[in-house]
Amino acid sequence: MRILLGLCAMLALAACSADDDAAATQNGIDGARIVGADSTPGEWLTTGRTYSEQRFSPLDSINRENVSELGLAWFADLDTARGQEATPLMIDGTLYVSTAWSKVNAYDGATGRLLWSYDPEVPRETGAKACCDAVNRGVAAWGGNLYVGTLDGRLVAINRATGAEVWSQVTVDQSQPYTITGAPRVIDGRVIIGNGGAEFGVRGYITAYDAASGEQLWRFYTVPTNPAEGEQPAYLQRAAETWNGEWWSIGGGGTVWDAMAYDPELNLLYIGVGNGSPWNQAYRSPETPGRNNDNLYISSIVALRPDTGEYVWHYQTTPGETWDFTATQHIILADLEIEGETRRVLMQAPKNGFFYVIDRETGEFISAHNFVPVNWATGIDQETGRPIENPAARYYRTGQPFVSSPGATGAHSWHPMAFDPASGLVFIPAIEAGFPYIPEENWEPAPLGFNVGIDMAAGAMPADDNVRRAAATGTRGALIAWDPVAQREVWRVNYRGPWNGGVLATAGGLVFQGSAAGDFAAFNSETGEQLWTAPAQTGVVAAPMTYSIDGVQYVAVLAGWGGVWALAPGTLSYTSGVVPNVSRLLVYRLGGTAQLPERLPVQERALDPPPSRGTPEQIATGGRLFGRFCGVCHGDAAVAGTVIPDLRYSAALGNADTWRSVVIDGVLAQNGMISWRRVMNAEQADAVRHYVISRANQDRNLASPTVNQLGAR
Ligand code: HEC
Repeated sequence: MRILLGLCAMLALAACSADDDAAATQNGIDGARIVGADSTPGEWLTTGRTYSEQRFSPLDSINRENVSELGLAWFADLDTARGQEATPLMIDGTLYVSTAWSKVNAYDGATGRLLWSYDPEVPRETGAKACCDAVNRGVAAWGGNLYVGTLDGRLVAINRATGAEVWSQVTVDQSQPYTITGAPRVIDGRVIIGNGGAEFGVRGYITAYDAASGEQLWRFYTVPTNPAEGEQPAYLQRAAETWNGEWWSIGGGGTVWDAMAYDPELNLLYIGVGNGSPWNQAYRSPETPGRNNDNLYISSIVALRPDTGEYVWHYQTTPGETWDFTATQHIILADLEIEGETRRVLMQAPKNGFFYVIDRETGEFISAHNFVPVNWATGIDQETGRPIENPAARYYRTGQPFVSSPGATGAHSWHPMAFDPASGLVFIPAIEAGFPYIPEENWEPAPLGFNVGIDMAAGAMPADDNVRRAAATGTRGALIAWDPVAQREVWRVNYRGPWNGGVLATAGGLVFQGSAAGDFAAFNSETGEQLWTAPAQTGVVAAPMTYSIDGVQYVAVLAGWGGVWALAPGTLSYTSGVVPNVSRLLVYRLGGTAQLPERLPVQERALDPPPSRGTPEQIATGGRLFGRFCGVCHGDAAVAGTVIPDLRYSAALGNADTWRSVVIDGVLAQNGMISWRRVMNAEQADAVRHYVISRANQDRNLASPTVNQLGAR
């Protein structure tokens, strides 16, 4: 036995370890195959296709000349109706995709036949720990396995051939409000996974696990903990100098919930780090005369050694952030010609509205420019790389509300960009939307719900069509082609509303993107001219990908409306119009003739609430509680999107007992509607009911949309 083990170690052969699945071993994914992805352009092996995460495909059979002949090859209905945000993988002819509630499906890429599906059976109560829907953004592959992070904080290895679970590791303290929505990445047999939860009160980190055994290899925390608890690694001790007060008591934030990239030559892993927890810096890290308050490493890009998790460098996009300005947005690596020199750069368009170009070897700031109108800062200091802030933006200092552009949902969220190496353009799915930051006095964290330290109720949309229309007019989306060297816009496609899909660029001279309004389209990558479009019948938020089998190129995209803009922003979630909420995988090819079933009708339902009999005090109390605990799912001012029920229509409005059994007793907990007993008593829950009744009565005479489909599967 010892001899055999020694032999395996010497030869380091895959055959010695994974002998139970010959086929998988034969076709296993390893670093060489991922690094050499351009030699098999028909595949899509990692969420961003390559470690550089450019989301550019060398395939060009579908191109500007023939894209008008694109038709549906096949489609697959999904069994959930929450947001669909994943980019599928294509390996050896099979398409693998994760869906809402962290499920994974495998399809024959040519025919669409379902080969297997895997359900990690995430308890639906976990939905209450998720800021932004029960979404999942993708799987990773290594050897013969796939890896998925589940909403309740597990990292699961699945046999790629059969869909059977191989191992499962809990990667978070499940008593805390951690969730996983991001795709894992695998580097040299190490599966790397982050998590989310900084709206609720957690401390961010990423962890590496052995791909074969699931054993934990290292963990990298992004924010320091209480220095009194003992020595921390040097990079965290340095970070502790940039925090004040007792930040650790509410986690500090800095969750790594989406972007990572890897440079195999430099052997550097880049992670995007999220916002502070709570958002309001006065409650997270109160300013202290003479002390730095940048709060490292929140809102930063950090470079690490993937073998050990050792810190190498960082660049902070928003020092001392207080607006939910994460730097978790898509990170793209590329080599750019800048002032006559080829620079190895990293590019990011984080929530704060500026497009950054950073030297990825050293972390040195190269340039930044705003890609949408920005009012919280007037620019980035080209010497220091720090934002030049508008003093009014630090609302906790002034004590005054500040309506920031961009707002908490960002000028760009998780929706992947794409980079065309031939033209050097980056295509950004951008958002133009403001958000009112209203400081809340005497704020205290609660054991449930958002803990952001601002008044979420005071900014609620009034029942006034003119105000609603004005707000909708100021809320837009765009696909922006950005020249990262000149730091300027080259072309743009305007959308009525925000939250359009992620982007794919191809060597066919095309850029593909779905929209919140329910279309899937191809644009000329040079001009932005729309060359082709097809109805997706629902909002598209995910990014497309492309692959080829037997010489036929396919373009695949997950359709399915969801995520934060489908839940929280009330009437503004309808800015792009009203689309049904259905979840499907759509796959196109030239000459495809498959037909979608008839589009679901959108039900217009008249509001018919019971008469408003609450006292002004009840309604005011209910409004405050609704804003703090309910609005993130049921919508600002009790106007829901098409994912979670609109309470203005609830039959429980007229029945205090039913209402209490849902809100306090938690009878719908298994469907994701937990009990709120820990933060309110029955009387307060009834005040919320009176608030919703009052809102529904105010709204019934308005022209604003009153559409809601109960699709919270
Ligand atoms: C994390 C998301 C989330 C939050 C936050 C949330 N809910 Fe819900 N709620 C749901 C979901 C999902 C359902 C649908 C459950 C089902 O399908 O049975 C629901 C259903 C309900 C219903 C039943 C509606 C009907 O169909 O008649 C009521 C009443 C309700 N919620 C009240 C509240 C109140 C009050 C709050 C704040 C204290 C709240 N919810 C906070 C997710 C949420």
